[in-house]
Amino acid sequence: MITVFGSINMDLIATTDRLPKPGETVAGNGFATAAGGKGANQALAARRAGCVVHMVGAVGKDEFAAPALALLDQAGINLAGVKRVDGPTGTALILVGGDGENMIAVVPGANGTIAAEDADAAIGAMSKGDTLMLQFEVPAPAVERALAAAKVKGVTTVLNLAPLIADAPRLGRLADIVIANETEFERLAGQDNMNPADRETALRRLHGETGQTLIVTLGADGVIAIRDGVVTRAKGLKIEPVDTVGAGDTFCGYFAASLDEGFDFEASLRRAAVAGSLACLKAGAQPSIPLSAEVANKI
Ligand code: RIB
Repeated sequence: MITVFGSINMDLIATTDRLPKPGETVAGNGFATAAGGKGANQALAARRAGCVVHMVGAVGKDEFAAPALALLDQAGINLAGVKRVDGPTGTALILVGGDGENMIAVVPGANGTIAAEDADAAIGAMSKGDTLMLQFEVPAPAVERALAAAKVKGVTTVLNLAPLIADAPRLGRLADIVIANETEFERLAGQDNMNPADRETALRRLHGETGQTLIVTLGADGVIAIRDGVVTRAKGLKIEPVDTVGAGDTFCGYFAASLDEGFDFEASLRRAAVAGSLACLKAGAQPSIPLSAEVANKI
């Protein structure tokens, strides 16, 4: 069983031929809304991968609350841990360029009300051996409390270091499994502009210090990871990306679900990388998350 402790957003998405530079206005060629939020996206990915999933988070009392939760509800995710608070649901303003790359600004709204007590309640409802997934789109003190409480309870923690926050290097050490992109990993390791050799050296060093399982996602180059002293690599699919929003979340959700379902580490990485690739082929974060059968067909 997986509990996701994290954000729930409504994504407001404009597509453009190319992303603007600072201060520049570009013409958009499309607009859409879709359910998003790193926490909610990861929850849906874990569910579509086949897991029992509980979501803990918050939405506001506004017109975005219901659509932000709709796909989670339809997928059968337990939403009892989602509180309704005064004020707006979290929103993300997203620009997607013609090459599939994106820029995102997140306004936390209800996500900003998540507190240490919510962490205590979430972990209190979990059992030893369950998996807790976290990111940094809810306040860091709540994430820290959840990590600490999970350790006491014997819950396995999977922390995605996104979006990058100042406290990421310290909080990153508190999780059993850390998933970071290249930039986030550089911050964790305290070293900029890493080449592949630097990255592997830093992975071995950090793993030697903490014993943690560390996973670095590399976009089109797949993923490199270290667990129990062994470095493992996995590739996704060769694709022409349409929209990369939510691809990292899909990786995280599929990875945690795969481990929870009993796949070995290498197979979990490969399944998650393939799912992340498939998530780049459709628009929108949650609408693009593939079903487990689609992923199985491509492995
Ligand atoms: O990781 C993608 C997500 O980041 C989007 O769904 C958006 O809500 C932001 O949180």
